[in-house]
Amino acid sequence: MPSVPHGGALVNRLLTGTALENAQKQAAELPRITVDGYAAFDIDGIAKGLFSPLTGFMNEEQTRSVLDTMHLKPGIPWTIPILLPVAKADADKLEVGTPVAIEDDQGELAAILHLTEKFTPDKEELCQQVYGTTDTAHPGVAYTMGTGDICLAGDLDVLKTRKIEFEEFNLPPAQTRAAFEEKGWKRIVAFQTRNPIHRAHEYLTKCALEMCDGLLIHPLMGTTKSDDIPGDVRMRCYQALIDNYYPKDHVMLSLMPVNMRYAGPKEAIMHAIIRKNYGCTHFIVGRDHAGVGDYYGTYDAHYIFDQFDLSEIGIIPLLFDHSFYSKRTHSMASKKTCPGTAEDHVFLSGTKVREMLRNGEMPPEEFTRPEVARILIEWAQSTNQ
Ligand code: ADX
Repeated sequence: MPSVPHGGALVNRLLTGTALENAQKQAAELPRITVDGYAAFDIDGIAKGLFSPLTGFMNEEQTRSVLDTMHLKPGIPWTIPILLPVAKADADKLEVGTPVAIEDDQGELAAILHLTEKFTPDKEELCQQVYGTTDTAHPGVAYTMGTGDICLAGDLDVLKTRKIEFEEFNLPPAQTRAAFEEKGWKRIVAFQTRNPIHRAHEYLTKCALEMCDGLLIHPLMGTTKSDDIPGDVRMRCYQALIDNYYPKDHVMLSLMPVNMRYAGPKEAIMHAIIRKNYGCTHFIVGRDHAGVGDYYGTYDAHYIFDQFDLSEIGIIPLLFDHSFYSKRTHSMASKKTCPGTAEDHVFLSGTKVREMLRNGEMPPEEFTRPEVARILIEWAQSTNQ
């Protein structure tokens, strides 16, 4: 049975029918702001209940509570504020109490914000708490520092869903839940990824599937940093891998239209909660989950779960050690499951893999499946990555 949504009920802020028509008319009379793709993804996430129980952008009190206690309120963990920062000049034109029409980066009317508060967060503190650093080389910090200084808070009424590539795989939580019910899956494990699936990823998903009924391969497809592998290339890799190496009746591929924050441990909790909203009961957390550079310890995203009562998190984290192919045991393994030293492990750095792909060289099969490697080589050579 799919898990209970975070906070008890799945949020739906998408207007339909007459309510939608009325809102479209009303919006024409309202002050209007334009937001970037990042904010537009957040609006879409709130609309479809990915961020349940959130019904809009957080106010100052909620933000404080999330930063200070990692909870929205007692019993409801939340680790990363969901904010709508705008330039001061834009904020000055808006009045608390008067709704605001929001136009998205695609030039369309996306939502009406019921503006209840404007506040100025301390961005340095925000970055330190969320990302553990204020270094602008960190992509999350760079994004936060580059946004406007004033945050707008309030509930959203959303007028459109955000269409992205591979829309047929963009199932909202209500639909993944229905799919799990239909398949009769009780224990459903979600796998978050922003990369092609390599052998180590495959190993985690298959270990997890041994103890669950179904696996949701759930790649993140919101904004990512520019040197991450593009979504369309990744989707082709996932499809090739599933076609060749996974049993169809226990695996489902769907994408998650959420921005990558690179917030390591705090994002691991957020990723788990979002998957709970999608109906999953278990969530894979491996090495340096949602990490970037050297900002987080290899297992910080495991340790953070100890700071919560698992019943309030409401989804079971499956914590995996760094895994690799062991030449000693001739199998995928981790230090927990095979003897030997680092020399027995097949290890390739990201830089080395990129170089091989660019040169048209197949990485070893112990590192990545050839069907996936071929897609990556074609992409690397055509874009000179
Ligand atoms: S992430 O930003 O989505 O975490 P990535 O797509 O690389 O990046 O990882 C997806 C998941 O696999 C995360 O839970 C991560 O911790 C885990 N992971 C990636 N590589 C390994 C590995 N070699 N061993 C164990 N876990 C791994």
